[in-house]
Amino acid sequence: MVCKGTACHVSGADKIMEGIERHLQIKEDGVTFDMGYSLESVGCLGCCALAPFTIVNGEIKSNISIKDMKRLFKRKN
Ligand code: FES
Repeated sequence: MVCKGTACHVSGADKIMEGIERHLQIKEDGVTFDMGYSLESVGCLGCCALAPFTIVNGEIKSNISIKDMKRLFKRKN
């Protein structure tokens, strides 16, 4: 999940979403072919000081960068 609330938007949430889409080769609200990942946006989760804010496999990831994101998402082959 990628927060697209105002603080996260200003902190680059759109670029994070685009990076994840490109990396996983899916679009928002999509699921990877192997069903390993789904991708969705959410509104403000109340952690604006941690923007941009994401949740990956149930874990909160704050101040995430595109570089961090690539490490988080390992494609299953
Ligand atoms: S705007 Fe993303 S946590 Fe508030």
